[in-house]
Amino acid sequence: MATTIFSSTLIKPSTGSTRPLRILGIAGSLRHGSYNRAALRAAAELLPPDTELDIFDLAGIPVFNQDDENRLPDAVAEMKQHIRAADALLFSTAEYNASVPGVLKNALDWGSRPPGDNIWSGKPAAIVGASPGSLGTVRAQYHLRQIFVHLNLFPLNQPEVMIADAAHRFDSSGRLTHEPTREFIRQLLQSLVAWTVLIKSEAEK
Ligand code: FNR
Repeated sequence: MATTIFSSTLIKPSTGSTRPLRILGIAGSLRHGSYNRAALRAAAELLPPDTELDIFDLAGIPVFNQDDENRLPDAVAEMKQHIRAADALLFSTAEYNASVPGVLKNALDWGSRPPGDNIWSGKPAAIVGASPGSLGTVRAQYHLRQIFVHLNLFPLNQPEVMIADAAHRFDSSGRLTHEPTREFIRQLLQSLVAWTVLIKSEAEK
């Protein structure tokens, strides 16, 4: 059940102006017909008021090489810019061999470097994941939460959204058609917004 902590989701930065809350969606799959990319598209349809969702595609991010961490590749610098500009993050992860896909771990590693510039630190985040199997990425999601502790990302605890049996919850065009799953994602987004406003208000004290 979502908890409404503030009646408005408009962020009030220290300038006093108001603007929509910005969520950045990141999918842990590059597959063209990815269910996890499709879950982010569904999230964009289910946003609370005064909230925007941009999706950042990890396709252009090179494989991490520590030799390059002090002169970041352009695609990585761009990714870090998008993360910096976001108020909150929404990860939609596939599960590969019972864990986080390399493409997502690779992005998390880049974002944590160079030392002293961990872009993830302090960001509120929510996790969803979709898989054709019966576990709905639960093992990947719990590994992701473990990595978040180290990165000082602040993951929302509940609701947990594990989309099992994905082949029957999305249609052939990649639209999430399973109404209970859409409702879970709607609740997740409402909770993420409340979580983000709470963290921002604490940070400004
Ligand atoms: C998988 N898949 C998979 N599924 C799962 O539920 N648990 C797992 O451990 C794995 N392991 C795994 C390893 C590798 C290398 C591949 C390629 C696939 C199946 C996976 O869930 C399926 O391909 C999804 O469709 C991947 O997510 P996207 O690409 O649809 O977002």
